[in-house]
Amino acid sequence: MNNFTFYSPTYFAFGRQTENEAGQYIRRFGGTKVLIHYGGGSVKRSGLLDRVIASLKTEKIPYVELGGVMPNPRSGLVYEGIELCKKEDVDFILAVGGGSSIDSAKAIAAGVKYSGDFWDFFDGKAEIQQALPIGTILTIAAAGSEGSGDTVITKEEGMYKRGAGSDALRPVFSILNPELTFTLPPFQTACGIADIMAHVFERYFTNTKDVEITDRLCEAVLSTMVRESPKVIKNPSDYEARANIMWAGMVAHNNLCGVGREQDWSSHVIEHELSALYDVAHGAGLAVIFPAWMKYVMKHDINRFAQIAVRVWGCTMDFANPEATAMEGIHRLETFWSSLGLPLNFAELGAKEEDIPFMVRNIGLKEGETLGSFVPLSNEDIEKIYRLAL
Ligand code: NZQ
Ligand code: ZN
Repeated sequence: MNNFTFYSPTYFAFGRQTENEAGQYIRRFGGTKVLIHYGGGSVKRSGLLDRVIASLKTEKIPYVELGGVMPNPRSGLVYEGIELCKKEDVDFILAVGGGSSIDSAKAIAAGVKYSGDFWDFFDGKAEIQQALPIGTILTIAAAGSEGSGDTVITKEEGMYKRGAGSDALRPVFSILNPELTFTLPPFQTACGIADIMAHVFERYFTNTKDVEITDRLCEAVLSTMVRESPKVIKNPSDYEARANIMWAGMVAHNNLCGVGREQDWSSHVIEHELSALYDVAHGAGLAVIFPAWMKYVMKHDINRFAQIAVRVWGCTMDFANPEATAMEGIHRLETFWSSLGLPLNFAELGAKEEDIPFMVRNIGLKEGETLGSFVPLSNEDIEKIYRLAL
């Protein structure tokens, strides 16, 4: 196991009606003037925003609102949010929604405390040192942003989708009420499921040896997802299944499952080009890319692929031909994602073969650079993975 640090300072409030305590938590964590940041309208339609505002009013906490965060959140609204926070002397940001609203809130929180252009954090020109405190009320189990120090923003000019990270971005509190996810359309639910599983895969496929504890944690999260996911597709109001998935989404990405081991993350970078170019859901793009990546790199460590096939997918180990077991695991993943209504190739996603060279270029690897760590990928490898996903 490698040396590591693990910092997960978020206070989690989980369960029914916990959103009504938002005002109390903001007060406890020092907020005196709040920006409520949300998406395209689901929080209004569900009545959630009204309940959150009522909770702030009970605590007599003044607030301003900024809605309109789009899935694959854009830099334009981040600039607007930074200006608004400065103008209104906001000292706390409350994101109400999914990964997109939370990520946009994080970018605003960092931008307010920075004298330069916030995009510097996303193209590697500056490191995030400080940010306004953030609270979240999660409405979709997916990105794990409620417990992570990461944010992913798309810059409109050039449609660059880039990430930035810092422990300063970890929310001070996150409210997780599984009931808030009942209104998710099945496709959106499925995209969230793919993202949660992908966050585990990015950590599971590692070259670090003897990481039994994190291997087993990863397998537990994946097995839970395999068991619970069909239930919420069948019955969107299944509280217990929604609850298990919601917590799995947090555990999958606050790095509990990834400490002490090399992590890969190339599939996320390869996917981000798809969601930037076609504005598709991140989870849908991952469902297309991950099986292709797995087939491409499988031979690097057949035993690891066979291990996941046996432990998560219940395949029988073929000791004479472990490669067959490994491949069976990948096929079971494809069948599983397909059964949830997810796309598995470019055609089903609406992506185009002729855009592949552009996407490879846009990833921006410089001469001699590679992507990922399990198998470091060159531009040629990345192109082959896109083509395997056609
Ligand atoms: O905008 P509204 O109207 O709220 O609708 C949203 C949106 O259309 C809708 N939705 C959310 N909760 C709902 C609901 N509709 C009905 N009922 C509800 N309860 O769902 C759509 C998707 O929302 P979004 O916030 O985009 O979803 P998600 O949580 O999957 O976030 C995706 C973003 O997170 C980034 C992705 O790249 C993508 O931009 N990621 C962030 C990470 C992080 N910060 O750690 C890690 C991830 O790997 C990921 O890259
Ligand atoms: Zn993701």
